Amino acid sequence: MTNATVLRCESCGATYGDDLPNATCPACDGLLLAEHAPPAVRGKELRSLFDSRLAPGASNSSGAAKNSGASGVAAAHARSGVWRFRELVLHVADDAIISHPEGNTPLITRPAISAYAGVDDVIIKHEGHNPTGSFKDRGMTVALTQARRVKARAVACASTGNTSASLSAYAAQAGIPSFVFVPAGQISAGKLAQTIAYGARVLPIDCDFDDCLRLAREASTLGIYLVNSVNPFRLEGQKTIVFELLQQLGWHPPDWIALPAGNLGNTSAFGKALREARELGLIDRVPRLLAVQAAGAAPFAKAFGEGFVTRHKVRAETRATAIRIGDPASWDRAVTAIRETSGHVVAVSDEEIFAAKAVVDHAGVGCEPASAASIAGVRKLAAAGEIGRNERVAAILTGHLLKDPGTTTESQLPAPLSYGAAMDILRRAT
Ligand code: F0G
Repeated sequence: MTNATVLRCESCGATYGDDLPNATCPACDGLLLAEHAPPAVRGKELRSLFDSRLAPGASNSSGAAKNSGASGVAAAHARSGVWRFRELVLHVADDAIISHPEGNTPLITRPAISAYAGVDDVIIKHEGHNPTGSFKDRGMTVALTQARRVKARAVACASTGNTSASLSAYAAQAGIPSFVFVPAGQISAGKLAQTIAYGARVLPIDCDFDDCLRLAREASTLGIYLVNSVNPFRLEGQKTIVFELLQQLGWHPPDWIALPAGNLGNTSAFGKALREARELGLIDRVPRLLAVQAAGAAPFAKAFGEGFVTRHKVRAETRATAIRIGDPASWDRAVTAIRETSGHVVAVSDEEIFAAKAVVDHAGVGCEPASAASIAGVRKLAAAGEIGRNERVAAILTGHLLKDPGTTTESQLPAPLSYGAAMDILRRAT
């Protein structure tokens, strides 16, 4: 299509153009990796190009927008934290982009969270500030842009809730019918409500996420475009969490980047982003990745402890439903990401996740349970001496507190009180 992007199968090595209507390799169903033509500039000049787009009213472009003829369309890269990095994401004309916009999420520091983690300098990047409340929007803006480019008749995904909410919103904007497969009874009410409200057709299946993903992959043989994180364009969008973080830190990389890990799409995207940032001279040193799994859904952490000699599968169980995944799809890519960054993988119990969540919540920041795994993982590695107290840690909070309010209200809402009893409590407390 543009010849600027090639899709390479990581299993059989076949290559395809960026107009491929399949999300996985048509020859062997392996996972495809997007490889872009290198940008015209690198290093300091590339940093300056990205920085210039943050200026108010910026419309500087690498050429795609100029050629699009979309004079009335405000430059997507000036507003979106994904398309600001378009040279490293997808070469596409401005008026072809399906953008909310998304990204531009804040960095937050709170002494209480650093103290709890046991590291002086913890920087939180809160991806819950995306339009549908999770980091998935960064991948979905690219996947739906691509879905429309390849003229997909319909799009589908399997989901633990956030992907489906994001898919539903972006598919609505793109005007493409969408289907989602969710494990029945295992999705938080907030995420399900979003998915239904934005208009996706929800198919609750009597199985777990891993089976739902198998079903979604089979559905793609019917010509439905799959937008799970096995879709290479999802990863291209999610890389921008790292690019934006680095840019916000003045291109001075932290020592660690911690993130929750389920299906391992995000871990893979982070690894690719760091590899590219290093190769293009955006940074001169690569932070270490810390992928954190819930103990009841930790096949990757188990394998890490054994030097990644075996690919494990488990029947997943955790109250952090977003990461209740036992057979992660992006396994090999994530192994590469951990190896290339001298990274670490750790498992934390539900108790540790919810204790960390309470600290994040009480700091006035808030996050959904799975997100708090980042903080719980940092605390665990700091206590073990693996992360030094003086190291700088960026912890990704992947989803908003309101994604899963049930976990808080079920455990912490008191029984209804009488008027008098409420006054008594206030008198005693003040
Ligand atoms: N955090 C949240 C809030 C998530 O929703 C997910 C994944 C992850 C972390 C893990 O990311 O799968 O790339 O390793 N949620 C997917 C979904 C599976 O369907 O919403 P991962």
